[in-house]
Amino acid sequence: SIEQSLRPIRLNQYIGQDKVKENLQIFIKAAKMREEPLDHVLLYGPPGLGKTTLAAIIANEMGVHFRSTSGPAIERAGDLAAILSSLEPGDVLFIDEIHRLPRTVEEVLYPAMEDFFLDIVIGTGPSARSVRIDLPPFTLVGATTRAGLLSAPLRDRFGVLSRLEFYDANHLQSIVERTAEIFQTSITKEAAFEVAKRSRGTPRIANRLLKRIRDISQVKGEEEISLETTNQALNMLQVDEVGLDHTDHKLLKGIIEGFRGGPVGLDTIAATIGEESQTIEDVYEPYLLQLGFIQRTPRGRVVTDKAYQHFGMKGHEDK
Ligand code: ADE
Repeated sequence: SIEQSLRPIRLNQYIGQDKVKENLQIFIKAAKMREEPLDHVLLYGPPGLGKTTLAAIIANEMGVHFRSTSGPAIERAGDLAAILSSLEPGDVLFIDEIHRLPRTVEEVLYPAMEDFFLDIVIGTGPSARSVRIDLPPFTLVGATTRAGLLSAPLRDRFGVLSRLEFYDANHLQSIVERTAEIFQTSITKEAAFEVAKRSRGTPRIANRLLKRIRDISQVKGEEEISLETTNQALNMLQVDEVGLDHTDHKLLKGIIEGFRGGPVGLDTIAATIGEESQTIEDVYEPYLLQLGFIQRTPRGRVVTDKAYQHFGMKGHEDK
């Protein structure tokens, strides 16, 4: 698919996240020199920053198969056993949303990660017995939005912990230019930079916006995506100058108008604006925190003066 073709295959094609890349490059090289599987890797950070892409790259660089599943998809220990026992030595198993693994499955995973075996209980009642299944050595790559969502015993079993960060505008501009090239579309540097500035530091958002901007540019009959069309398209898509969308606005205005700028508890905000607390916390808050538009305090979330100014309003002290 097009989505697939946007994903870089090798580490040296992956733009940004320099610290994460630099570390992985060394750990991968060392594991290959020893002819051992790479240690288990936990990738954490906000959605859309490339955790799945990086996991697939790790498999590619190691020269092994990439198998992919998610925490909620593995309902029973037997599901995990089926996946693990079908791996070949050194394979990468990627578990997205690993914090959502059922606890019973998580406990089966511990000996699998540590010593490459499974203890599976077969049958129930008096005839129940435990069988030990040896596994091929493998690399687990787990992904989650926050490392703190994992239980300590699971977190402790990862040898490599890598935090993905929001991309700066220059890296995102390079990603937009690369994506445009894959789409066989030209875009001016200024337009690519504008998309970058308005994508919340997130390649997935940048690529999605670029697709819509390309549609508009194409319908206008442009040969090259211009800054003017980019601005027009982003305004149409209700993406503001700093990349905030309708939901970000609803969140900030909800706190400003309903709670005089806070502090207000997460669950209260969630109920007020009709979004899940977890979604606010994982998807919307991280970038608002990074922008310095909200702060977390012991008494709840507070909208900062910087956010008030963004809306052309005075900060709370002057109201
Ligand atoms: N496409 C999406 N994320 C990317 C990245 N980090 N590098 C290159 N292309 C990408």
